[in-house]
Amino acid sequence: MTQDELKRQVGQAAVEYVLAHTGAGVVLGVGTGSTVNCFIDAMAPHRDRFQGAVSSSLASTQRLEHHGFTVIDPNAVTSVPVYVDGADEIDPRGNMVKGGGGALTREKILASLADVFVCIADASKRVPVLGGFPLPIEVVPMARALIERRVRALGGMPTLRANPDGTAFVTDNGHQILDVRGLTVGDPLAFEQQVNAWPGVLTMGVFALQRADMGLFATATGIETVR
Ligand code: 5RP
Repeated sequence: MTQDELKRQVGQAAVEYVLAHTGAGVVLGVGTGSTVNCFIDAMAPHRDRFQGAVSSSLASTQRLEHHGFTVIDPNAVTSVPVYVDGADEIDPRGNMVKGGGGALTREKILASLADVFVCIADASKRVPVLGGFPLPIEVVPMARALIERRVRALGGMPTLRANPDGTAFVTDNGHQILDVRGLTVGDPLAFEQQVNAWPGVLTMGVFALQRADMGLFATATGIETVR
């Protein structure tokens, strides 16, 4: 089975989970990425069951609107019953690295509005310890060099994210991303809190404070549900 097939399979499984665990008229929380795109596409026939969706990126908003969903400003909701999003890595406790698509800040905001965070991924994203995937940190541009120095002091190797054509990558919020290689994240919660406290860090890509409540993982033999 190809990775795209696994993503479609887990996107469909997430639709079934959401339909079984929410009532009609609720607001759906929607993440970002290629796996979430499969979820959005599979959810499209059910859009009228929802009041609308809150979205974690301009890309997901466009896709949701293309399918006829009403996209709602997160300021207008106090909570969402379920937030579905992918991950770049997830450990056995539901701690994740996210932000490979650059949407980490809005993803963390929506995760904190959610009653239940459902992580959807192919099983290759499951790791015993976070740190293999380069850790994204969204930074205010004028603090970039300062944060690079702090990352290096911890033994990390930061790179400023660029688009494939070499132009600077700019997030939906107008900031830059440092991708940090070479750090093993032994204590995700402590590390998230440490880096969050650095001036100029908007969001760092470890999701421990907002870790996943459950995972749906696509494997060659079917969907594995982990709570
Ligand atoms: C975007 C994210 C994505 O959820 C993460 O990068 C996984 O993406 P994909 O499903 O394409 O592998 O955090 O900021």
